[in-house]
Amino acid sequence: MQHLKYLYKFLWKHKLKLLVGTFFVLISNIFALYPAEFVRKAFDTILENTQNINNSSSDTNPISSSNKIILKYTSLILLFSVLKGIFMFFMRQTIIVVSRYIEFDLKNEIYKKYQQLNLEFYKKNKTGDLMNRISEDVSKVRMAVGPGLMYTINITTLFFLVINRMLDINSKLTLFTLIPFPLLAISIYYVSNKINVRSEKAQKQLSKITAITQESYSGIEIIKSFNQQKNILKNFVNECKKYTKKQIDLIEIEAFFFPLIIVLIGSSTLITIYIGGLESFKNNISTGNIAEFIIYINMLAWPIASIGWITSLLQRASASQERINKFLKIKPKIYQNNIKKTFIKGNIKFKDVSLTYNDTNIKALKCINLEIQEGKTLGVFGKTGSGKTTLLDLITRLYDTTSGKILIDNIDIKKINLSSLRSYIGYVPQDGYLFSGTIKDNIIFSSDNYNYDKMVAAAKYAEILDEINSFKDGFNTIVGERGVQLSGGQKQRLSIARVFYKNPSMYIFDDCLSAIDKQKSKNILINLNKKMKSKTSIIVSHKISSLEKLDNIIVLKEGEIIQKGSHKALINTKGYYKEVFIKQTSNLENI
Ligand SMILES: Nc1ncnc2c1ncn2[C@@H]1O[C@H](COP(=O)(O)OP(=O)(O)OP(=O)(O)O)[C@@H](O)[C@H]1O
Ligand SMILES: [Mg+2]
Repeated sequence: MQHLKYLYKFLWKHKLKLLVGTFFVLISNIFALYPAEFVRKAFDTILENTQNINNSSSDTNPISSSNKIILKYTSLILLFSVLKGIFMFFMRQTIIVVSRYIEFDLKNEIYKKYQQLNLEFYKKNKTGDLMNRISEDVSKVRMAVGPGLMYTINITTLFFLVINRMLDINSKLTLFTLIPFPLLAISIYYVSNKINVRSEKAQKQLSKITAITQESYSGIEIIKSFNQQKNILKNFVNECKKYTKKQIDLIEIEAFFFPLIIVLIGSSTLITIYIGGLESFKNNISTGNIAEFIIYINMLAWPIASIGWITSLLQRASASQERINKFLKIKPKIYQNNIKKTFIKGNIKFKDVSLTYNDTNIKALKCINLEIQEGKTLGVFGKTGSGKTTLLDLITRLYDTTSGKILIDNIDIKKINLSSLRSYIGYVPQDGYLFSGTIKDNIIFSSDNYNYDKMVAAAKYAEILDEINSFKDGFNTIVGERGVQLSGGQKQRLSIARVFYKNPSMYIFDDCLSAIDKQKSKNILINLNKKMKSKTSIIVSHKISSLEKLDNIIVLKEGEIIQKGSHKALINTKGYYKEVFIKQTSNLENI
């Protein structure tokens, strides 16, 4: 349970509410206790009155006095039950509400951590696992601090109050009636553990089915064009069969749960009647006490049964919290190490920069030396896998160099305030990701201030304004999940518009014109030139036509710079750049 210690700080934060909650539990249990006493009193008085009828020795009418007593006690029982209910409501309103606050705090803490962690972490971990930390694990912990804590307080106070009352009446009877209870707690623990294991298995299978379904929706085009519907359906049916089997296993054990509780409570009641009967013959207790005891047993039965349930709840919460703690302890390798905001002009220098990806050991960049002067433009050219994206990722510090240094305005990039650095860069990634919101949301993504004219201008510069205007809802058109409603070229142009809206000091374009036709690409480049004036820019492209106007071009091959120079110089030098240029210009369709 030591992992749950992490929650102390949250519990401490809400200590007052929890204290008040505990008080409500106590009050509600005290109110719950009295009806049993009233039943005993009613029983005993009625018995007394019945004896009086038989003896006919009393002056008062025993039947009407019995009626009065029954009415008095039933009203009292009703009143106390209502009071108990009211305090139970307050108890839930405090303790369960606190658990929701803790869930909120914990989720925020985890989410904050997610945002700090590096890309490397995301590449290593599966999305499903990451989602589980923030959803399933947190909700298991919530169950422990909410219902778990509430029932623990409830059981402790109730146990203390009821046992105290029972011992007051008759210790022998108390001892006997409690015999089945430990057995009840232990068996519930085992059964609920089994239920948890089986329900987790069923849950996992359900996640698998969800994943298959989701994947087949996303890949529906490929499934249909490859005519794979039958195979996919077969796979789906198989997984569904497994799910049904797992659910049946779960129902089997769940079906065992309630009969087990009822048998054990029943045996306790039987013992009470038998031993209580014997004690009452000996005049150690009244018959009313037997009825009172039966009520106590029923009051204790559920809380005691829930000891097993709570134990298994706590175990699961502890395992979840252990995973959360491990995750929260991860230190991001790239973090804000300078809180002072930095103004960036845009001189970029690479000094003997190498990068080896830890997980694959691929040497993506080898001893790169390079300088891009403030306000100048650089083209990056090279075969697929030559390290172009890696080079850009180092400038935005999505990765840090393995060796060598990157200097921006002659300051080591690692010493520059991270958010300043990123705020000065307008980065269009290779696979322009769009969020599922409106076109407007996607364009104004980087800024808190919305300006309609700026948005329209950005869309215009990115050559997408006409298309947006042709949509029924214009800028308010919903971009489907992963931008499915848009074509590849439209998505790329929206990503470009997003950067134009940001109006940064440096532009970085990673092959973001690949799905855009020649004329539109040309126009975007002209607009870019207008915007890029006096701004440092780096453009990665497989199309030489996108690079020819830039000040300088480097050619990468297997992580090394093999050629450098202006477009003019490069097409006049024997080498890879010239070879591709000839191919691309002689085969215009490929441009
Ligand atoms: N996150 C990563 N983890 C491990 N290896 C990676 C990672 N990203 C890229 N690589 C590897 O590093 C090398 C360079 O990749 P990079 O993405 O920089 O190439 P690229 O020039 O941008 O290629 P393309 O033109 O296809 O976009 C490749 O061999 C690639 O497999
Ligand atoms: Mg790339």
